[in-house]
Amino acid sequence: MDKLVVSESPPLQGEVSISGAKNAVLPILAATLLTEDSCRIEGAPRLRDVNTMVRLMGELGVPAERDEDGALTTTVVDEDNATAPYDLVKTMRASITVLGPLLARRGRARVSFPGGCVFGPRPVDLHIKGLRALGAEIDIEEGYIEARADRLKGARIYLGGPFGSTVTGTANVLMASTLAEGRTVIEGAACEPEVSDLARFLVAMGARIEGIGSPRLVVDGVDRLHGASHRVIPDRIEAGTYLVAGAITGGEVQVNGVRPDTLTAVLEKFREVGVEVVEGPDFVRVRRHGPLLNTEVVTLPYPAFPTDLQAQFMALLSLADGVSIITEKIYPERFMHVAELLRMRAQIRKEGPNAIVIGTTWLSGAPVMASDLRASAALVLAGLVARGQTEVKRVYHIDRGYERIEEKLRALGANITREEDQDAP
Ligand code: EPU
Repeated sequence: MDKLVVSESPPLQGEVSISGAKNAVLPILAATLLTEDSCRIEGAPRLRDVNTMVRLMGELGVPAERDEDGALTTTVVDEDNATAPYDLVKTMRASITVLGPLLARRGRARVSFPGGCVFGPRPVDLHIKGLRALGAEIDIEEGYIEARADRLKGARIYLGGPFGSTVTGTANVLMASTLAEGRTVIEGAACEPEVSDLARFLVAMGARIEGIGSPRLVVDGVDRLHGASHRVIPDRIEAGTYLVAGAITGGEVQVNGVRPDTLTAVLEKFREVGVEVVEGPDFVRVRRHGPLLNTEVVTLPYPAFPTDLQAQFMALLSLADGVSIITEKIYPERFMHVAELLRMRAQIRKEGPNAIVIGTTWLSGAPVMASDLRASAALVLAGLVARGQTEVKRVYHIDRGYERIEEKLRALGANITREEDQDAP
């Protein structure tokens, strides 16, 4: 098992290219189950989660090959198996996105129930409700979601829940409805750019979808979808993470190949805390000379501040002047990074879904444990400015969602290396 060793670094300087979005490419790969044709997905990032999804697709009879440009091409060789096994689903919740396409195209799906994760229970009741509304019969048996349907039928479905809409739930119901008979109206659809990217891919496959990007998706079912080629949108969370790296070290960092319009709430927060932001057509640059200022961050569904950047901003705000409050409205228990940041001398008090961050003047390097993907990124960011050395263990979490993070950071001047963790079990 590897660890990342991060030492106090100079202010980061330079430009970094952003990869394709993890949370777009995963459901897009699942969507290729909806056709018997080949599909080509450009800009697919080289990530652990993408490898896991490719393995799952292989099990489902749709292997994918990477070409020299990094594009993934899928080929349908066998449409018989409709089981997504526990071993794969347990390592990556996004596997649940094969449920809708399998059901729509193969008439049945057996997908391991994803269960909880380190930041709390992650139910799939809205996915099930949506697919049932389309006429599927669904049961939970032996830890699996067992779904069946002859031909799905269009319906009017509300996908809002106690914490807003559901990103992968919207993906599942949207994919299933493309092959349903008649019209489906999804109200309370998730508006995340990754859902819109999936919808655009489905349209390229021949799906009829109106309202892309809005909370009301209208889908007119078709009899079949064909193969398509698609370029995945850039990863706004990866971009935000490198912008925090620039801001936290008091440097100047430009992220290239991004969609600044998908980062509006995040860029506003940077400006609020005293970071200068320049936006171009496909780049964003941050620069900080003065002190970091305190603020309030509330995570909410898109277009508000994303939960997937909450941990990284907590690292940043732990060095701000004054007291900041972070409220997590998507996953009230997504605070595993607090305990590790405390080991690095941050001053943070967790009270229910809030974290009260009392700015400190310096952080201290320490051995810390990565608990989930974004928490790990936050610890690396803190390590860049902490005095001494920080060892971030269990780095496989970070490899799930960041492509070559140590190389990209090193190119900006960071002191970071990947080493084998001799102490790991
Ligand atoms: N929820 C329900 N019922 C459901 C589904 C969700 O109550 O049936 C609740 C969840 O418990 C949560 C909220 O609704 O409180 C939102 O969850 P959502 O379903 O939108 O999350 P997800 O689709 O499982 C995706 C991303 C996550 C990201 C969330 C929120 C993918 C593959 N994953 O998860 O990304 O945090 O949306 O934006 O798209 C990450 O990349 O690190 C990551 C965790």
